[in-house]
Amino acid sequence: MNCKNQKVLTSTFEKEVCEGLSAFPKYLSSKFFYDELGDELFQKIMALPEYYLTRAEYEIFKTHKSDIVQRFDENQEGFDLIELGAGDGKKTKVLLHELLNNHFDFTYTPIDISQNAIDGLVKNLKQEMPAVVVQGQRGEYFEVLDRLKHMSDRKKVIMVLGSNIGNLLHSRAIQFLKKLCNVMHSGDFLFMGFDQKKHPQKVLDAYNDKTGITAAFNKNILIRINKELNANFDIDAFMHWETYDPESGTAKSYLVSKEKQTVDINDLSMQVHFEAWESIHTEISQKYDDTIVKWLTKESGLKIVKSFSDQNNYYKDYLITKA
Ligand code: TRP
Repeated sequence: MNCKNQKVLTSTFEKEVCEGLSAFPKYLSSKFFYDELGDELFQKIMALPEYYLTRAEYEIFKTHKSDIVQRFDENQEGFDLIELGAGDGKKTKVLLHELLNNHFDFTYTPIDISQNAIDGLVKNLKQEMPAVVVQGQRGEYFEVLDRLKHMSDRKKVIMVLGSNIGNLLHSRAIQFLKKLCNVMHSGDFLFMGFDQKKHPQKVLDAYNDKTGITAAFNKNILIRINKELNANFDIDAFMHWETYDPESGTAKSYLVSKEKQTVDINDLSMQVHFEAWESIHTEISQKYDDTIVKWLTKESGLKIVKSFSDQNNYYKDYLITKA
């Protein structure tokens, strides 16, 4: 099947769905999970007892907020706080409150792939913290980085929290970190969360909850293709499957076809055939330790200044500068 010859595919979504479902083995990018329904399901995931990530990072912020914000702007010269993949901003608000209470001079630019998430966050901040200067933007990581360069000459603190960096394989993560390094000046900071290696069962459970919310979240990508590209995926004919390899530290999510079937994606003039038990790979969630984070930063021209961890050592936020 050749995507390009059939039809002029205009959107990234169209192009990538066509490419991923024509490939062998099949894949779809997890960045497409996040439409309105996807945002809502991800909020439910973050509240799950099994999904420790959000709570661990929240705990880190609650415990170390004073130290963290002091380090952001030690000389009180003023700075722009830029967050990639901001989502609902729940954790970030802990830091914003701390910055406001201590009269730091700063602006906040949350960026997310989901316009819905950005609209919600900006509206919420206007009500909850009207004193914060906020400028929301929609965009993808790599595309946003080019924009960052031209944003302002003020000192920058770039935040990437949650499992955002974890959605990139090491080679892509290094490309991303190198690009970040390129837009940073000496004195700028990167504040980045890395989910740590831990008991493999703990990781598996976080991506495979008993109530099926994670499964619904993963399947939302098929619902989106049905809605936006006029397709007929039978959602019940697919199951969510999760694996975790403790050696590489990679958790992977799949959608597995329970039967042999053919799906029509009308807007792409495309038919997709599935053998019984054939998979679509949808997401990676990489887990790290200090040695790996050190290696990633070194490869990218960066260095770690300090790290902050929760009591269980499930998760760490690293304060990073140019090397
Ligand atoms: N990026 C999030 C993470 O890796 C999203 C996520 C949570 C996710 N649970 C999932 C993605 C299950 C796919 C399947 O933690």
